[in-house]
Amino acid sequence: MKDRFFEKTALITGAAQGIGVSIVKRLSQEGATVCLLDINKDLLEKIKQEIEDAKGEVQIYRADVTNKEEVNKTVNEILRTYKKIDILVNNAGIIRDGFVSKISEEDWDQVLSVNLKGSFLLCQAVFPSMKEKRYGKIINISSRAWLGNIGQANYSASKGGLVSLTRTLALEFARYNINVNAVAPGLIDTPMARGLPKEALERLIKMQPTGKMGCVDDIASAVAFLASDEAQFITGQILHVDGGKSCGLLAL
Ligand SMILES: NC(=O)c1ccc[n+]([C@@H]2O[C@H](COP(=O)([O-])OP(=O)(O)OC[C@H]3O[C@@H](n4cnc5c(N)ncnc54)[C@H](O)[C@@H]3O)[C@@H](O)[C@H]2O)c1
Repeated sequence: MKDRFFEKTALITGAAQGIGVSIVKRLSQEGATVCLLDINKDLLEKIKQEIEDAKGEVQIYRADVTNKEEVNKTVNEILRTYKKIDILVNNAGIIRDGFVSKISEEDWDQVLSVNLKGSFLLCQAVFPSMKEKRYGKIINISSRAWLGNIGQANYSASKGGLVSLTRTLALEFARYNINVNAVAPGLIDTPMARGLPKEALERLIKMQPTGKMGCVDDIASAVAFLASDEAQFITGQILHVDGGKSCGLLAL
């Protein structure tokens, strides 16, 4: 599948660590020019070097997805340089977990702002050029938690909102040959998951049908499929990549 993304330009948010890096590497290995957006400049520089060492074409942009001005500036810079954005992956996301009685207004706003508003701003910013080119693949990284998760009211709501945004944009954009889909990862081994308290993480792993966490490449594979022309008649769909966790509870 080498060069599945030959001459394609991809913008990936939250691209400095975890799942984002794996998506960046996969799209780059398959021929895409990769544009990395993140708030973490130092990590971005490191990934840029790795992509360049592997002879990939890469640009980095320090920007906050919640800031409309920074988002628009980044998208305009990419369009000036590469004339088009074929693929957008809205991957930036945060957690601020707690039971609903303990979630502060600030934690609610922050999670909704990064996970939902950020994706909306990026979709809005890339849409005019995708529409003009009559080509686009948008993949939003939701979460299995959109189905509901104890202790994650803000996160679940943000990821459920992202599902609704995906389905609505799929309808609005279909006539312009723009596909909008979501990937809903289960528990994946990343700095975000490793940041959970040790006992909580162990409990979560036990609750997986597979008895283990997924890896970042599992998500990158799903994203690469949805970003490819093999998925041209697929839009508005939510692809759960969660080892079966979304199918129901395990009888313990
Ligand atoms: N790890 C999991 O188990 C898991 C499960 C389901 C869904 N997800 C989702 O996958 C995505 C990636 O998760 P991860 O585990 O790799 O997370 P991570 O915390 O390892 O990486 C997230 C990246 O997003 C960046 N980011 C955070 N806020 C930002 C902002 N305002 N603007 C720009 N960049 C910002 C961070 O700097 C970081 O590089 C997230 O949307 C997350 O919700 C992860």
